[in-house]
Amino acid sequence: MRLLDQRALPQREEYVLCRTHGELAQAIRDMVVRGAPAIGIAAAYGLVLAARQLAGEGLSAAPFLEGLRQAAAGLRAARPTAVNPAWALDRLLARAGCLADRSPREMLAALEDEAAAIHEEDVAGNELIGALGAALVPDGASVLTHCNAGALATGGFGTALGVLRAARDQGKRIHVFVDETRPLLQGARLTAWELVREGIPATLITDNMAGHFMRLGRVDLVIVGADRICANGDVANKIGTYGLAVLARAHGIPFYVAAPWSTVDLLLSSGDRVVIEERAAEEVLGYGDIRWAPAGVRVANPAFDVTPARYVTAIITDRGMAYPPYTESLPALAAAAAHAEPTEAR
Ligand code: MRU
Repeated sequence: MRLLDQRALPQREEYVLCRTHGELAQAIRDMVVRGAPAIGIAAAYGLVLAARQLAGEGLSAAPFLEGLRQAAAGLRAARPTAVNPAWALDRLLARAGCLADRSPREMLAALEDEAAAIHEEDVAGNELIGALGAALVPDGASVLTHCNAGALATGGFGTALGVLRAARDQGKRIHVFVDETRPLLQGARLTAWELVREGIPATLITDNMAGHFMRLGRVDLVIVGADRICANGDVANKIGTYGLAVLARAHGIPFYVAAPWSTVDLLLSSGDRVVIEERAAEEVLGYGDIRWAPAGVRVANPAFDVTPARYVTAIITDRGMAYPPYTESLPALAAAAAHAEPTEAR
């Protein structure tokens, strides 16, 4: 599997080749590929790599399935906060499990189809999210976004950025404030790159400038992606999202979350139960080869935070819009068939 190395963007367009599921899990850990839907799709293809290897070993169905489960455990553990890898891997394991009376080669073919379907459905879902969400973006709006929830973070098109692309495609004149998103600068490196390529007017700001521009009345709405949306509407997303949501509330600015249904985890009752990935201290001590903090200082580096549902104006999904109370609207959308006409649940 050939992955665009997002660590090198925007300076260099390089690719990393993963030949095994272990190499793919490492690439997810190292953030060669990142963004919840994108790591879900990558994990699915990673399980296909494992299936190819196992199918070549002449195993019978039972050890083949056991090998798949072990490979899935490694891929699942690569990054714990986003639910999408677990969702994708469970879907593949279920498909293989239904074919336990068939040969590993037949199971492999089914897994290849399933992984490709997950990929294609994500792109289609992003377009639905874009179409629904664009209606929330007024002509002339200035929109603030955090991290990267664009084409790079998904199968293509993007969730939060997909909404902005769709609004622009409808002829709306929009401007985007891009939070740089410390420590790994997904906003400055990736979102800014996508917006510049698309010709969408954008202003890059450091994370601590958001409140300033809100107070000046320069931000009309905030839109972000999500790594896991819990049953009560709590949203886990890139560290810094929570602070933005509180600021938006303080200034009376709508705060929208855009995510595919694969990011909704109705089995997790609230954000208190989300595992927050803690990453290496080096990411905070400096960037790349540059170190600016003194040796010996203690560092905390949670990669995500949880925004309580009460700060979320609406959640835009490919199954429709969810409004508070989310304990009612999310189950209502869950009952809607995947990719049926998106509905509105209040
Ligand atoms: O650590 P990252 O870059 O994987 O974090 C990504 C985010 O937090 C995104 O906002 C989220 O995954 C949604 S991407 C459509």
